[in-house]
Amino acid sequence: MTPPLEVDGLGYVLPGPGPRAAGGRGGGSVIVQDLSFAVGVGETLVLLGRSGSGKTTTLKLINRLLEPTAGTVRVAGERAAELPVTRLRRRIGYVIQEVGLFPHLSVARNVGLVPRLEQWEEGRIAARVRELLTVVGLDPDVFATRYPHELSGGQRQRVGVARALAADPPLLLLDEPFGALDPITRVELQREFQALQRRLGQAMVFVTHDVREGLLLGTRIGVMQAGRLVFLGTPEQFRDSEQPECRAFLGAA
Ligand SMILES: Nc1ncnc2c1ncn2[C@@H]1O[C@H](COP(=O)(O)OP(=O)(O)OP(=O)(O)O)[C@@H](O)[C@H]1O
Ligand SMILES: [Mg+2]
Repeated sequence: MTPPLEVDGLGYVLPGPGPRAAGGRGGGSVIVQDLSFAVGVGETLVLLGRSGSGKTTTLKLINRLLEPTAGTVRVAGERAAELPVTRLRRRIGYVIQEVGLFPHLSVARNVGLVPRLEQWEEGRIAARVRELLTVVGLDPDVFATRYPHELSGGQRQRVGVARALAADPPLLLLDEPFGALDPITRVELQREFQALQRRLGQAMVFVTHDVREGLLLGTRIGVMQAGRLVFLGTPEQFRDSEQPECRAFLGAA
């Protein structure tokens, strides 16, 4: 079966002139280099890496918020570079690090965004919105009609997760989706998320700094360092790895 995501030799070099040291804007700097991995149905690849190691950039290269300068991305077997960008993005649920809700749309409208683009009928959208808000621990009767500025940071983040799940995309990219949550809510959402993983069987790339979260949710762990994937393996292999960056993460946990 074709995996939902295949990444082969992916690279990103900043466009524009000149390295910073020479007074330029950093053009030519290598941000991501030679990444290759595949994520199968029901698999969650957790990307661990220090701040600035290229995790967010990798997700943006997959959904073409940034255009790769090397390598290929295939989503369900089709080359991402050859798909119209809107079609590509509707197949990919994306939770961005800074949430990115539309401020002028209510919670319900934000969550229902892609189903509406997909022209689901209104009753089905409303039911889906209620279902998902409940899943992420937000009472639909309280929150559906609110606007993003009327929510706490953690509540906004949960709406972001609900929105990414709304149309059951075969591929989910999640960038620190639980980063702004208190530890108790975070553990609750991690549990909900595990249940969702088992139920939906989507392919996910899940970025986190939190090793415990990574080991809980990942079927495989990828460790990024300075734009490269320096480790890729099962959680068990990660725990046993002698790779220095893996040891550093395990030591900090
Ligand atoms: N437009 C840009 N111009 C210059 N440098 C950039 C640009 N975008 C990203 N970078 C650099 O690329 C590197 C990787 O950034 P990226 O956002 O992918 O890191 P990250 O692993 O997601 O970090 P964090 O854990 O802090 O979110 C960083 O050093 C960042 O400063
Ligand atoms: Mg990031």
